[in-house]
Amino acid sequence: MTKINSNYLKLQGSYLFAHIAKQINAFLAKNPNADIIRLGIGDVTLPITKTVLDAMHSAVDEMGKKESFRGYGPEQGYDFLINTIIENDYTPRSIQFSKEEVFVSDGAKCDVGNIQELFSTDSIVAICDPVYPVYLDSNVMAGRTGEIKDNGYFDKIVYLPTNKENGFSPSLPDTNVNLIYLCSPNNPTGTALTKEELKKWIDYATKNKAIILYDAAYREYITDETLPKSIYEVEGAKKVAIEFNSFSKTAGFTGVRCAYTVVPKELEAYTDKGELYSVNKLWNRRQTTKFNGVPYIVQKAAEAVYSPQGKKETKELIEYYMTNAKIITDGLTNAGYEVYGGVNAPYIWWKLPAGIKSIDFLDILLEKCHVVGTPGSGFGPEGEGYFRLTAFGDRDRTIEAVKRITSTKFV
Ligand code: MLT
Repeated sequence: MTKINSNYLKLQGSYLFAHIAKQINAFLAKNPNADIIRLGIGDVTLPITKTVLDAMHSAVDEMGKKESFRGYGPEQGYDFLINTIIENDYTPRSIQFSKEEVFVSDGAKCDVGNIQELFSTDSIVAICDPVYPVYLDSNVMAGRTGEIKDNGYFDKIVYLPTNKENGFSPSLPDTNVNLIYLCSPNNPTGTALTKEELKKWIDYATKNKAIILYDAAYREYITDETLPKSIYEVEGAKKVAIEFNSFSKTAGFTGVRCAYTVVPKELEAYTDKGELYSVNKLWNRRQTTKFNGVPYIVQKAAEAVYSPQGKKETKELIEYYMTNAKIITDGLTNAGYEVYGGVNAPYIWWKLPAGIKSIDFLDILLEKCHVVGTPGSGFGPEGEGYFRLTAFGDRDRTIEAVKRITSTKFV
């Protein structure tokens, strides 16, 4: 008899965005001519920029010639990309990394989901609430939680409320936790942590021998120059934090797939015997065993993101989406709604009229406006009463969605 991993049975019915896709399909089956505007999943809509595409094309040509063809690449990524990442994302911020500390991968989602494998199954996990569901679900799968309770909280997880009452900056746990997931700018609230707030977490992690898993996938959307784009801008972070970055939202790579994770050599955790062990060594061991690297073609494309012209084009992409964010924020605010985010992140966190459950609002918005968004409760119990809209849509469709929403009465 083959038994399943019964931890999977503790999960909610389906992954959040799979559930939304199912709802849309059901609606379309009944209303085949509905002109639906999708502001649900944070998927980019602008094409890959010219400079990046040119690099991809020439890499494709290289693969077609015997003298420049490449088979398996290094699992950790090619040096040309790793060095470019360090030179552009860290050196200008006076942060030094050696190439062994940066691991190129096919997505921040995979890395934030896989990283927990390195840590003991009895590790106590703290997550912001609301937050990107992968952190919680991957730990449920690994057996670090109990069952989900009636109030929507999983047993054994330490939830860190991240709400308007605390300015979307979670307080430190009053218990000892081992793994802390932080996401800044936060998905879904669209708010970013300051250096002072990060310092508080770094000090907590140092004191409690905890590790921070810092998801910075949206960092290029930060417009406030006083806010940190990397946790390593804050002293002490190298000893306690792993950072996840992605080209998905920065350069339109959601379909191309490329990301990178920084695991500093200084970061250590404990063996069963209480001895310190390098987390970098473990991640390298994990990646070389289970991952065969990102395609050369994709890594050449990612390298081109950092060329002067690539940077200019990427900046334009981000400005386009952030203009969408402003259109949504201004439209909803002028219509009398309370909204958060949208300034340092491409997500708008919309406070729903009192009494409407966010999962019901998914259907209401679809029925009344033919617009798709993401229910706040899908990101955690504290997300109830909120709804997330993405700024990654097409400009005209975003304007149209705001027009439809603001001309509709929901109560
Ligand atoms: C989201 O909508 O939250 C993101 O697109 C999901 C992801 O990046 O995996």
